[in-house]
Amino acid sequence: MKAIELRRKYIEFFKQNNHKEIPSAPLVPENDPTVLFTTAGMHPLITYLLGNPHPLGKRLTDYQKCLRTDDIEEVGDAGHLTFFEMLGNWSLGDYFKEESIKMSYDFLTKELNIPSEKISVTVFAGDKDAPKDEVSAKIWENVGIPKDRIYYFGKKENWWGPAGQTGPCGPDTEIFYDTGKEKCGSNCNPACSCGKYLEIWNNVFMEYNKVGEGQFEPLKQKNVDTGLGLERVIFILQGKENVFETELFKGTIDTIKNLSKDSYKAESARIIADHIKASLMLLLDGVRPSNVEQGYILRRLIRRATRHLRKMNIDLNEISAVAKATIECSKEMYPQLETKSEELISLLVQEKDKFVATLEHGEKEFNKYLQQAQNEGTKVISGQKVFRLYDTFGFPPEITDELAKENGYTIDIEEFNRLYKEHQDKSREGATQKFKGGLADNSEKTTAYHTCTHLLHKALQIVLGEHATQSGSNITEERLRFDFKHPQKVTPEELQKIEDIVNEQIQRDLVVTCEEMTLDEAKKSGATGLFENKYGDVVKVYTIGDFSKEICGGPHVERTGNLGKFKIKKEEASSAGVRRIKAILIK
Ligand code: ALA
Repeated sequence: MKAIELRRKYIEFFKQNNHKEIPSAPLVPENDPTVLFTTAGMHPLITYLLGNPHPLGKRLTDYQKCLRTDDIEEVGDAGHLTFFEMLGNWSLGDYFKEESIKMSYDFLTKELNIPSEKISVTVFAGDKDAPKDEVSAKIWENVGIPKDRIYYFGKKENWWGPAGQTGPCGPDTEIFYDTGKEKCGSNCNPACSCGKYLEIWNNVFMEYNKVGEGQFEPLKQKNVDTGLGLERVIFILQGKENVFETELFKGTIDTIKNLSKDSYKAESARIIADHIKASLMLLLDGVRPSNVEQGYILRRLIRRATRHLRKMNIDLNEISAVAKATIECSKEMYPQLETKSEELISLLVQEKDKFVATLEHGEKEFNKYLQQAQNEGTKVISGQKVFRLYDTFGFPPEITDELAKENGYTIDIEEFNRLYKEHQDKSREGATQKFKGGLADNSEKTTAYHTCTHLLHKALQIVLGEHATQSGSNITEERLRFDFKHPQKVTPEELQKIEDIVNEQIQRDLVVTCEEMTLDEAKKSGATGLFENKYGDVVKVYTIGDFSKEICGGPHVERTGNLGKFKIKKEEASSAGVRRIKAILIK
């Protein structure tokens, strides 16, 4: 079976079991600044797991592109990837443990024909926050997994979430495939990383909301959130040893092999294949290399891949050949990769070129530092030197660390981090100065749009109903763009009403006030809180007269009177069940 077939089979199976298919969300979450990437299928669904009704109902399924950087060191083994696809199904307060486990088991054993003997499972052992999950264990036994292949573990292994600091989470039951390798010892079990057991599916029983450190409250509803790792299951089904032998990577690995000839290094080839794919997917979703946030991760991925090309003496211009091969392997799953291939490859090459210049300078400098360290009789490269390589030569500390390790040295990362933070604080001060000095004009405009967005949000709920909650927002100096849940086109009459309501609030010249309170108090005060897991313990609540109350980071105008005239320019579909409005303020 090919990966694309597995994807289809999964979605079909859950559709037959009355699930509705929802689209894959972008790799960069649209409205959640606390996380850089979508790391699981549940991410875009947090608000529904918390209890807001989803327009498509209580049973959902999808395939979701995900990116995880915490496993970056693991990349190169059989089953860890930076970019991967998660197949998921959800019950939003509908079915719970029994149906979920049975469906997973049936899908694996009947649809995919994985022998039951190959399956081991883990369940939650229980602690002060939640009981031992004997219910799941019993269900597993009933479907045919013998007791000796059902393992109990604590939170570290069998608890999932929240995705951020707070939010929906719960005990899980994880499904492992026995690769047939020998046990690494008498204690070898699914929690062991020796490679005998490969986790393929995680069923999370999300019935808790983490509201603070060690604080779990029952959620309004009992949810199920599952995630199956497509790349892992596909290599198992194909009887391969690892993901890199499947059609998703084989062409890339072969290309690297051909290019490197005698200096081929299997681990480097895997790292390159993984990183180039992740980079292309990020570029496709609009991320560009930079020194901050998502852009920085992308830069690191491209640079690390480039370094490994160098390690194999591959001409670095061949990065485009590797990228082409990657697109060839992935285009069936992500056709846009092919449509945009020229642009994506050229962006990749540009970043590689920047790095080559950097590397040449940086490595010379690095070698000097090595020499100095050697003369001083130390095995540690100081944080100051690491910082200088970063600041002057654009050398990411991770690369310095890798180079150091290759030579038997370590770096003082703590000192580096301290210097880096000092540097950041300084540039922030600089930016504030600049802001005071004349950029205020631009920001006034975006601030006005920001407040206007709150008015629009409330007006939508008045005219369309309470389900019309925010699912995305984007503001420039020229316009606001607002995505919200609504199953059908908004009629011209409704749009007119919405516009009128917003303009009325502007004319009333309402006072905007801001208060800080805990998330709990904010909810009790009736504030609208979206994407709840992004907020820390204390949140800001902005109140606009008697009209709107929202949790928000600000900034906002002081009174609505000066906003100008509100005009909706466009209403269109954004994705399934989500509409998009673009609107402007005319002074
Ligand atoms: N959200 C769960 C996971 O990522 C399914 O494992």
